[in-house]
Amino acid sequence: MQRTLILFKPDAVERRLCGRLLSRLEDKGLKIVGLKMLRVTPELARQHYAEHVEKPFYPLLEEFITSGPVVAIVAEGPGAVLVVRNLMGSTNGRESAPGTIRGDYGMSRQMNLVHGSDGPEAAEREIAIYFKPEELIEYGTSLDGWMYASDEK
Ligand code: RTP
Ligand code: MG
Repeated sequence: MQRTLILFKPDAVERRLCGRLLSRLEDKGLKIVGLKMLRVTPELARQHYAEHVEKPFYPLLEEFITSGPVVAIVAEGPGAVLVVRNLMGSTNGRESAPGTIRGDYGMSRQMNLVHGSDGPEAAEREIAIYFKPEELIEYGTSLDGWMYASDEK
């Protein structure tokens, strides 16, 4: 079973969209196994976006991601990393497909509402940055057997 890290970025919190975005994850069938609100510090931003620190857009990205609280989520499911990337849509809200979070709620490349890990290794790295192991909750639900077949897990 795969896990992925999701952030509802400061614009999503500011615009009171967290409930609707969380519903999209739950409606899709992902299981929430970790959830918290926090402020991203500049140091945390540099750790999270290590691959972008040297890029020209990084100062503005850091300013944005540290500008208000975020909600960090770990979601679980078969192929969860790709499932979430598809739910999010492409980076620039002006180009993201309708039906995706970014396509439905935004017009910006920077204020694009959500972060999702872009691969299984990134997911492991990012989950460890935001969550201690004991903050991730393993549990079964009575619906589990209706969400996918046993050979899909
Ligand atoms: P994220 O990491 O936040 O989930 O977004 P992403 O994978 O879709 O995009 P990525 O390429 O990883 O870029 C991270 C964030 O940096 C900002 N960005 N600005 N000005 C630019 O050219 C530029 N390119 C990227 C965006 O806010 C993007 O979400
Ligand atoms: Mg990225």
